[in-house]
Amino acid sequence: MIRRFVFGEMIETEAILEKPQAEGGAVPFLCVDEEAMTFSYSMEDSDRVYGLGENVRGMNKRGWIYESKCSDNPDHQEDTRALYGAHNFLVVDGKEQFGIFLDYPGILTFDVGYTRRSELKITASDWNLDLYVITGENVKDIVKQFRHLIGRSFVVPMWAFGYGQSRWSYMNEDEVREVANKHRQLGIPLDSVYLDIDYMERYKDFTLNDEAFPEFEKFNEEMKEQNIHLVPIIDAGVKQEEGYSVYEEGLEKGYFCKKEDGTPFVAAVWPGKALFPDMLNKEARDWFGDQYKFLLDQGVEGFWNDMNEPAIFYTEDRLNQVMEQLGEYKGKNLDLNLFWEFKGLVNGLSNNVDDYTKFYHNMNGKKIRHDRVHNLFGYNMTRAAGEAFERLEPDKRILMFSRSSYIGMHRYGGIWMGDNKSWWSHILMNLRMLPSLNMCGFLYTGADLGGFGSDTTEDLVLRWLALGIFTPLMRNHAALGTRVQEAYQFEDVDGFRHIIGLRYKLLPYLYSEYMKAVLRDEMMFRPLAFDYPEDARAVRVEDQLLLGDGLMIAPVYEQNAEGRYVYLPERMKLVRFKKDGSCEEEILEAGDHYVDVALTDVVVFVRPDHLIPLSKGGQCVADVDFEDLQYLSFVENEAVYEYYHDDGYEKDYENPAHMCVIRMEKDGKVCRE
Ligand code: GLC
Repeated sequence: MIRRFVFGEMIETEAILEKPQAEGGAVPFLCVDEEAMTFSYSMEDSDRVYGLGENVRGMNKRGWIYESKCSDNPDHQEDTRALYGAHNFLVVDGKEQFGIFLDYPGILTFDVGYTRRSELKITASDWNLDLYVITGENVKDIVKQFRHLIGRSFVVPMWAFGYGQSRWSYMNEDEVREVANKHRQLGIPLDSVYLDIDYMERYKDFTLNDEAFPEFEKFNEEMKEQNIHLVPIIDAGVKQEEGYSVYEEGLEKGYFCKKEDGTPFVAAVWPGKALFPDMLNKEARDWFGDQYKFLLDQGVEGFWNDMNEPAIFYTEDRLNQVMEQLGEYKGKNLDLNLFWEFKGLVNGLSNNVDDYTKFYHNMNGKKIRHDRVHNLFGYNMTRAAGEAFERLEPDKRILMFSRSSYIGMHRYGGIWMGDNKSWWSHILMNLRMLPSLNMCGFLYTGADLGGFGSDTTEDLVLRWLALGIFTPLMRNHAALGTRVQEAYQFEDVDGFRHIIGLRYKLLPYLYSEYMKAVLRDEMMFRPLAFDYPEDARAVRVEDQLLLGDGLMIAPVYEQNAEGRYVYLPERMKLVRFKKDGSCEEEILEAGDHYVDVALTDVVVFVRPDHLIPLSKGGQCVADVDFEDLQYLSFVENEAVYEYYHDDGYEKDYENPAHMCVIRMEKDGKVCRE
């Protein structure tokens, strides 16, 4: 059951398109304090709290304080409170079971037992919001109802399930060609190469650096002939430069965000001074969306939207002020206080909270200060693109994923998990985000494999890939200046080929589970707690996941480990894929097991009476035969699998012809219905 409660008059987010009738009276489960603008709940010791999408810490969010505030924070650590997305949905699982969603575009705080261990307290910065309280049969049911409420998740073209290679600093077509060639020559599968900001002319959206990519359309075609898709980045800020048509047109039409006095708000990002298109204004959004045509017309079929929190390096006004203030320190003895003050001036230039109060949107004719709707910016940038794709290429699936997001954006694109670091702890952090993101509708997602910031190591990339082969978005991405981390840069090329190759064998299962999760409003990745709620051990497991109905995964995320402990809530079949192509199987009883996982092994666990369809693999998605299947299976009585398969490009998702049932009997006999 879903109940909606209205507090004040919210600014429309369109997270939910068909809203249930609002109810009056007391809010179930929560204590509401209008004056303090809080909702609180008294937790029992055994209660668990799931959700909040992209964030740090556990799948069970208890014990920390989180903020809903889309933030550009490449240096996030355990004590970070907010990442790139704002996902205001959580489920309490304990004596009471309920989900809550706060539809509110400004900043919220979720204190999940941080101030007082037993208290969950949500504080809003404005009392104009809608609150949804969802109850159901169990946690999965609550999530499913919520997912139904927020609408179907975006679907990618099938090639976007292939392996992608990215790096900030592929400078020209030769460098991109080399990435493609190296993979093909060494037999390491590949489906896409990402183009970071260097493909543009001086970081100007919807332009091409003609020296680096003199014949882009032809080059794109050349790549496509090898079944490799080029996926360019688009940034939120439009460079301020006379003669640049996107800037001039946007300015003339009044489509950029403005300061209170009506003049354009100028903030710096990669191109230096830039203006933000008013993504919350329908006309401006349509206009911005239409710009993607420039690249669509040259054969591009996928994009990633970036810097759309929006990130601000500095604003013109603040920089001027700070420059002036800095002069005052000249000749002074900078003691503790003064030195920190001095440093703080410069450090405070970027993403300054105050700057987000200095510009305005035009939402349906109403002037709204940015901070009140901060979390909607990235969402609407991606929506601009998504709506434009529907207009410009209605029959085609176009890949789109974004850095910043709010619930509702999942209908227009996926997200990647933002800038992580080449740290072992970030493998685990990214693993834990998967179910939380799925709860909020983000199914097409994945982390920067190998780590974005800081130098990586061969073993870290291998282990991270061994998780990445399961995530819909499987992309190796690294920052400018860091150690190169393409698969072929390391010694054990066979190991990389094996692990990435396995992804292509898993595709029939992965794509089928993804599409079923989309069509049925379900989660592709679930904590063990969701399927084994009665198992006191399983509900506490934080480093294993269920993937679809048939598999459990337990990646290794510690350096120099040769295996790990795995908890099995029931009898399962362990399958170990080894680098030499062999496959070991062993049936393990419920309980704890130490499982060997060599650096290039991938281990999965098949649940009883389940089967997993596999292909024979390929060098790209187009190579993969989704009909010629092999099976991983653990059949005690009979295994039945609902197999979804479509051509991966058309949009008739619901055509019943895409679904069939595969049955396997104990003796291994398979039939398809
Ligand atoms: C941002 C993105 C990152 C990208 C970089 C340069 O940090 O998150 O993925 O490589 O900008 O465009």
